[in-house]
Amino acid sequence: MGPMSVPSFVRTDEVLSERYTSARALEHEMAHGNTDLIRALTILGCVGPFKTVSPWEYQDPSGKRLINTGGYSAVPFGDGYPPLVQFMQNYLEHLHTIGLPQQSASTWRAALEHNLVKLLASQDASHADSKVFFSNSGAEANEAAIKFAKATRPKAKHILNFRRAYHGKTQMTMSLTPNPAIQKDFGPLEPNIHTHPYGDLDAVKSTIKKLGSDNVVAIILEPLQGEAGVILPPEGFLKGISDICQATGIILIVDEIQSGLGRVGSWFASIDGGMSPDIITLAKPLGGGMSAVGATLYRKWIFDKVLGGLDCKRHSNTFGGNSLAMAVGLKSLEILVDENLPERSARMGKIALDRLKGIQQKYPEFITEVRGKGMLMAMVFRDISKLGLIQANKDLAELVAEASGLLALRQFYQNGLILNLSLNSTRTLRMTPALTMPEDLFNEMLNRVEVTARRNPRASRLLVNTPPKTLMDLVKFAT
Ligand SMILES: Cc1ncc(COP(=O)(O)O)c(C=O)c1O
Repeated sequence: MGPMSVPSFVRTDEVLSERYTSARALEHEMAHGNTDLIRALTILGCVGPFKTVSPWEYQDPSGKRLINTGGYSAVPFGDGYPPLVQFMQNYLEHLHTIGLPQQSASTWRAALEHNLVKLLASQDASHADSKVFFSNSGAEANEAAIKFAKATRPKAKHILNFRRAYHGKTQMTMSLTPNPAIQKDFGPLEPNIHTHPYGDLDAVKSTIKKLGSDNVVAIILEPLQGEAGVILPPEGFLKGISDICQATGIILIVDEIQSGLGRVGSWFASIDGGMSPDIITLAKPLGGGMSAVGATLYRKWIFDKVLGGLDCKRHSNTFGGNSLAMAVGLKSLEILVDENLPERSARMGKIALDRLKGIQQKYPEFITEVRGKGMLMAMVFRDISKLGLIQANKDLAELVAEASGLLALRQFYQNGLILNLSLNSTRTLRMTPALTMPEDLFNEMLNRVEVTARRNPRASRLLVNTPPKTLMDLVKFAT
């Protein structure tokens, strides 16, 4: 019997040789993928699919070249960064390890466990004997953090979190992500979660007093809120939370999935801010922009409490720790260290923030605020939804109120930049360029921000500069 024939099956060599065209890819995405996401991006004119011109530059199907400042902090080196690609070619060519070492030791996993803990201990010596659990996403790393924390304090029921936090979209992590748009329809949410204004130490203390510290399992927080639109903690807040946890035994979980491993100019933003966390979650940059690698780093006693003795498979997954992902993670961490990228991120980020502040001051009717740390930057656009002209059209007013970030995203794209939306902040766009971006491109990226601002000196120009058909299609899409 010959191979089975499936009508119009796409062959790998068609994709590789680009005989599988952008048009066909779009058709298939519209049919079988996230149709409305693809539709929205098509209306905005920035749907791709993109080709890489260099690790930091893309080309869209019309031939337009763009600098990529997107990637949601998960693309630390750019796409196809030669040191990572060459290493992976070597890895695949000389493959002599098993792919899924679920029931054996593994050189790749062992090396990454060792290196992560050594790195962590170099920043906080109390973690010298800490342990690592690998998973396949940030949300899964946070799930593992909460589960283990619960097991260490079985009598406690309450978890403390913060407004506009983002911890993922699985049931528990979504419950910890207090955004009604993300949570609606998925209830009941996990109970006993207490949400506080980010930065409000007194509110946290008062909740703990009310509940009794023995009844609190954990406090989970981002040491700098990414999806909220790059919100920095007030001075002393991180240390204050850490002190409370140390004094009470409440488990301190820091979500460093976006902030960790260099993005904000330090290895661990929590430790940099004076914390000594009990559990640290990592993901995005550990996958080098190439693979999915999530990691939860635990103090030894917490890890052993869950995975001790015959219970050593009590928490597990099929793919976490697979050799391909571990090899990518090991090389990614090596590049971050060898190229001193946290330091570069801090240095270049300062230059960028100064420049962005200058642009904001020049165009305050377009950009009301810029925020940033290291190479995680955000621009907030003026709210134009209240303008009389816009209020006259209810649908347009709704679109502008909910999605003016999309109109701004389109303008930046027109001027050669890909930016990131922020899940918990609709008027904020983020820039998360690769930490390796060459200086000339980095400066060009900032020049293009300035050109975009010059062409949209007031936010209302976002409407004038969007073709009527695009606006109409967007309104139709949104209503
Ligand atoms: C701080 C933080 N935590 C958790 C997550 C969830 O990670 P993932 O999308 O890999 O599940 C993200 C993703 O944006 C994040 O920024």
